[in-house]
Amino acid sequence: MLKTTLLHAVEAGAKQLRHFFNNDDLKISNKEGINNWVTEADHAAEKAIIDCIKAQYPDHFILSEEVGEIITNSDTKWIIDPIDGTINYASGIPLCCVSIGVEHKGQMILGAVYNPFINEMFLAEKGKGATLNDKKIHVSKKTSVLHSCLVTGFPYTYLDMPNGPLQVFEKLIRKGVPVRRIGSAAIDLCWVAAGRFEGFFEHSLSAWDTAAGYLIVEEAGGKVTDMDGNKYSPYQKKLVATNGLIHDELLDVIHNRKQL
Ligand code: IPD
Ligand code: CA
Ligand code: CA
Repeated sequence: MLKTTLLHAVEAGAKQLRHFFNNDDLKISNKEGINNWVTEADHAAEKAIIDCIKAQYPDHFILSEEVGEIITNSDTKWIIDPIDGTINYASGIPLCCVSIGVEHKGQMILGAVYNPFINEMFLAEKGKGATLNDKKIHVSKKTSVLHSCLVTGFPYTYLDMPNGPLQVFEKLIRKGVPVRRIGSAAIDLCWVAAGRFEGFFEHSLSAWDTAAGYLIVEEAGGKVTDMDGNKYSPYQKKLVATNGLIHDELLDVIHNRKQL
């Protein structure tokens, strides 16, 4: 069963995260940009996850951050971020996770995000709701941006563009709206799903950052779009995820159609 394999794969990855955490000799190398790290724990977790999936479903398609695509003809694709929040992880900050989404015929059908350090397992199945450690979760009920607690993230290479990451951040901060920066997009999404944040926005994300988390938000009753309000696809970069109730207002603020 897909869900059982998903849970096994997440645990196999998490075991590697626990193993290397706070290891003084952790091997770190840099990818494109400044401080865009990958560690030996990312590689070990990724291998453990893929081995687990391939043992059950050798013909399934894989898209994973560090190895890229393992292309097959299968309609089922596993989208993997072995560690989302690598900078946190390598700094000994226990805010990071394994994130795995399962897409079937272009539709996300399952998603799991697990932070083994605070033992939070978020899970969603298309049409069946979202859970945190087996308890149903729901987005918050707040209705205005001004009274929201938001979260965002910034790319490793700064994007200079109209309404870019810092401009949107500034608009909200200047009006006193709390905007947090956790350092893991998958956790940001799950914390919207759990009602801890009213909304999350980010300008440059990849499919592995969001595949599981966006399904978890939708299944918790929230709304996820691109920054123009169009249906979200994990294969484009910009994302706005909210409790639904502040969604249009947040888009209006981002695009300067509304002053707070
Ligand atoms: C990063 C985190 C971060 C986000 C970056 C991502 P990584 O993923 O999700 O919160 O702001 O855009 O690249 O590199 O830790 O897997
Ligand atoms: Ca990531
Ligand atoms: Ca990663």
